[in-house]
Amino acid sequence: MQLAFPLRTERLVIRPLSMGDVTRHHEIYSNPDVVRYLYDRPLSLPAAQEHLARRCKVDLPSGDGWLNLAVEVEGEGVLIGELGLSLVSEVHRHCEIGYVFDPAYAGHGYATEAAALMVEVAFSAMGAHRVSGRLDARNDSSARLLERLGMRREAHFRENEFVKGEWTDEVVYAVLEDEWRLAHDPAKSFAFRV
Ligand SMILES: CC(C)(COP(=O)(O)OP(=O)(O)OC[C@H]1O[C@@H](n2cnc3c(N)ncnc32)[C@H](O)[C@@H]1OP(=O)(O)O)[C@@H](O)C(=O)NCCC(=O)NCCS
Repeated sequence: MQLAFPLRTERLVIRPLSMGDVTRHHEIYSNPDVVRYLYDRPLSLPAAQEHLARRCKVDLPSGDGWLNLAVEVEGEGVLIGELGLSLVSEVHRHCEIGYVFDPAYAGHGYATEAAALMVEVAFSAMGAHRVSGRLDARNDSSARLLERLGMRREAHFRENEFVKGEWTDEVVYAVLEDEWRLAHDPAKSFAFRV
């Protein structure tokens, strides 16, 4: 199943990634500050090409794949960040979101606005019961984003992953559909359809 692209929020346009995004994808993923708390190391251009090619999908996620999407500011036509959505469990109706933004566009609430749309897609288009976000416990800006979305900090796992040569703590945030519905009216905040 596909969403009707482009998706829109108040300030943003959200669309599938394409190989035409490779220059910006490389600029973002070659930045050590961006990948610090990701599984990736800074990507070379060839690595960024392969990385992007795996992300040029348009279908809502099923199985263990992710749907990754491009984010632009309305009217500017520049890739400022990327979103991810995965189906963690069909049985438990659990989805997970992810996001990676260019620090040049930080501090305007763009990542929060875009991530909110992904949560809405998970509940409305994928029938999720619970949406979560996982992060390195040191990733304070990501934790603040999930808190702005109204997610609850549910777990802090001590040294449960070995990432880029070190043991790392992982934090999990989540929100349930009824909690999200109490706080968000999709008719006012989002414009998308399946
Ligand atoms: C995580 C990440 C997306 C957060 O970016 P961000 O710029 O902090 O998030 P936003 O774009 O939502 O901006 C929020 C900031 O803008 C401010 N802001 C300004 N206008 C705002 C508005 N209209 N709405 C919301 N926030 C607004 C907020 O107060 C917040 O400031 P703070 O950082 O001082 O708390 C970014 O740090 C990133 O991409 N990091 C690298 C990749 C990564 O680690 N991804 C997450 C993996 S778990």
